[in-house]
Amino acid sequence: MKAVCWEGVNEVAVEQVPDPQLLNAQDAIVKVRRTVTCGSDLHLLGGYIPFMKRGDVLGHEFLGEIVEVGSEVRKHKVGDRVVVCSFISCGRCWYCEQGLFSCCDNGNTNPAITETLWGFAPGGCYGYSHALGGFAGSHAEYIRVPFADQGAFTVPDGVSDERALFASDSAPTGWMGADMAGIRPDDVVAVWGCGAVGQMAARAAMLLGAGRVIVIDRYDYRLQMAERVLGVETLNYERTDVGAELLERSGGRGPDVCIEAVGMEAHSPGPQFIYDQIKQQLRIESDRPIAVRDAIYNCRKGGSVFILGVFGGLVDKFPLGAVMNKGLTLRSAQQHGQRYIPMLLERMARDELITEHLATHVMPLSEAPRGYQMFQKKEDECVRAVFTP
Ligand SMILES: NC(=O)c1ccc[n+]([C@@H]2O[C@H](COP(=O)([O-])OP(=O)(O)OC[C@H]3O[C@@H](n4cnc5c(N)ncnc54)[C@H](O)[C@@H]3O)[C@@H](O)[C@H]2O)c1
Ligand SMILES: [Zn+2]
Ligand SMILES: [Zn+2]
Repeated sequence: MKAVCWEGVNEVAVEQVPDPQLLNAQDAIVKVRRTVTCGSDLHLLGGYIPFMKRGDVLGHEFLGEIVEVGSEVRKHKVGDRVVVCSFISCGRCWYCEQGLFSCCDNGNTNPAITETLWGFAPGGCYGYSHALGGFAGSHAEYIRVPFADQGAFTVPDGVSDERALFASDSAPTGWMGADMAGIRPDDVVAVWGCGAVGQMAARAAMLLGAGRVIVIDRYDYRLQMAERVLGVETLNYERTDVGAELLERSGGRGPDVCIEAVGMEAHSPGPQFIYDQIKQQLRIESDRPIAVRDAIYNCRKGGSVFILGVFGGLVDKFPLGAVMNKGLTLRSAQQHGQRYIPMLLERMARDELITEHLATHVMPLSEAPRGYQMFQKKEDECVRAVFTP
């Protein structure tokens, strides 16, 4: 079958790879109908997660049709149209029982790397390096889905492929950030990053009752999209004093909840960008935590900061003093999608959650290298490139 493979830093290619096979009784094989790029894939592309091998199949967000099931799959049958959570979890371990699905003890079949790096291994993720299990990704014609009863969700008839696709990752990620940050009615919520993840966090914040939601980025086309489709307020950090504006818009107190949806490749117009970039390139700092610093600095006293952006290792100039002295609650997670996806699909069916606007570019799988380039360089107002195998 055809698949999009990682071929080195900033190199992807469409190649012929072996078809996936059922390996375990709880597996299903899914024929991929739609799969989409994610900001997380850019971190792989840029070489910031050094556990990829040439020829690894990329992609972790997808929707398709079940074409084969293992003998222990109960919930699904051949022909089901399913959206699959990007994180792989067993549904039975202690972590899954707590609803902390991305921390699953059985999802990552190669836990040694992350145990060494982080103390314990999180669950697995499709197409996301050998540190997260080395699973083949979804930018392919077919994919093996382990623990299919846990990770695959039947899409209600009334929800289109275009919309349901985003229930795989961006929508549950954004929802998790807003939910676990503890948004209360009338809160002022600031979101750094206006990609699909930031937009979905902003929409979740609105649906959870926030009084004002303000999204911060530098790309006007993304900010205008969020204003138009989601009805949120926006700030362009290249043209505005973000701190002063956030104070003004929160009655002088600062936002109650700050959500970071940018990650390890953050940009900044200020000198900290050069500082962090040099350290990252020299590998003496693994991530650029610019938006994390901003979120912590601007958050009101006693407020809550949620880090949705992906980080891999160690950062420099982390404002621990602000966290401590302002009494902030700081949380983060890879998405616990299994906890939210059924509810999100219902909201999609009721038109409460619109996502299809994020798919700015839809193309055949064979054009994936072009799609990746557009997405990485933010060309042609790209928010997400969707591939149709
Ligand atoms: N926690 C999870 O489970 C999970 C799931 C999916 C994605 N992610 C992560 O979320 C992050 C965002 O993903 P995405 O797909 O929306 O990415 P994206 O690249 O499409 O969007 C990121 C946005 O952040 C903006 N940005 C950069 N620096 C900024 C700054 N200093 N302040 C404000 N905005 C800034 C960029 O201009 C861009 O629009 C990535 O790190 C991704 O890996 C996490
Ligand atoms: Zn993703
Ligand atoms: Zn588990």
